[in-house]
Amino acid sequence: MAQVAISNVAKAFGTVKVLHEVSVDIADGQFVVLVGPSGCGKSTLLRMVAGLETVSGGTIAIGDRIVNNLPPAKRDIAMVFQNYALYPHKTVEQNMAFALKLRKTDPAVVAERVKRAADILDLNPYLKRYPRQLSGGQRQRVAMGRAIVRNPQVFLFDEPLSNLDAKLRVQMRTEIKELHQRLKTTTIYVTHDQIEAMTMADKIVVMRDGRIEQVGAPLELFDRPANLFVAGFIGSPSMNLLKGVRKGDSVEIAGTAFPIPAGNAAQNGQAVVYGVRPEHLEIHADGVPAKISVVEPTGSETLVFVRFGDGGEMVALFRERHDFKPGDTLNLKPRLDQVHLFDAETGNRL
Ligand SMILES: Nc1ncnc2c1ncn2[C@@H]1O[C@H](COP(=O)(O)OP(=O)(O)O)[C@@H](O)[C@H]1O
Ligand SMILES: [Mg+2]
Repeated sequence: MAQVAISNVAKAFGTVKVLHEVSVDIADGQFVVLVGPSGCGKSTLLRMVAGLETVSGGTIAIGDRIVNNLPPAKRDIAMVFQNYALYPHKTVEQNMAFALKLRKTDPAVVAERVKRAADILDLNPYLKRYPRQLSGGQRQRVAMGRAIVRNPQVFLFDEPLSNLDAKLRVQMRTEIKELHQRLKTTTIYVTHDQIEAMTMADKIVVMRDGRIEQVGAPLELFDRPANLFVAGFIGSPSMNLLKGVRKGDSVEIAGTAFPIPAGNAAQNGQAVVYGVRPEHLEIHADGVPAKISVVEPTGSETLVFVRFGDGGEMVALFRERHDFKPGDTLNLKPRLDQVHLFDAETGNRL
């Protein structure tokens, strides 16, 4: 196993810069997730760690070696792709053994490693099957088995669950997390799905347009997003982000006063964005009067869309059942310890 150090790494395709001086430190054994919208540069960064793309600036180190000019095969990494990239004419067993055979590994060692991977991934019943005879989830497991048998210093995953249906995705996410707890191999995992990032990562790197927006443990990002982008990206349903102006000891939003925590950094008269998650709005007599427009029950929770003041809109989430109907009026009060304030100009947390 090994730590990975990505230092001021930049990437340009021709004249187009797609990564700007990105730095990420990944500790030995850590599970780090790179998350961000499509096109933000996640795959490019991962492929640079793998050696599948050249580095335009900065350094990448695996263990204590700078690997910028090392070919992929010498980097001691194993990558799992979204499309699995299995060999269609090889069985599950042959797919898993192939990379080791290429390296002329002792056949006894190959057999033992394949057996161990098959045990870990519950693939024993399928060893003689071909990829086309497997379900999507089983193929995904074979792709992981192929990575495991190589016993690499670092696992690299690029959206490995995107081709699976929603239920299987949740199941495989737990399996990958369990696998990591067991093998403790340093892992870099790329996804556009913030729930996957939140549930799997030791550390999340939120990216946008080739830059890092914030790095932190999942709940750190959830509890203290550094800027509006992270506030809106992390958490489902999304945080309400309401434009307003600080006036005395409240923020005025759509002509309505919202309470703010004491000691916050907003200046009187400053344009701010007031952030409050749907689950942090409570029904309270001195809350903001709000009229229900839409009620969405999911069974375990209910989303309530409301309008308030002069054109304001927000969403509240309740875990307990209420008999709400469109047109009803509620008084909603943000939990003061869960209010986030951002500078409306810079988007940064105040
Ligand atoms: N080989 C390439 N040539 C030119 N542009 C590329 C190439 N690969 C990726 N890009 C561009 O780099 C940006 C980042 O792409 P990518 O790393 O695939 O994003 P992500 O994985 O976050 O969706 C995108 O704008 C994409 O169009
Ligand atoms: Mg990608």
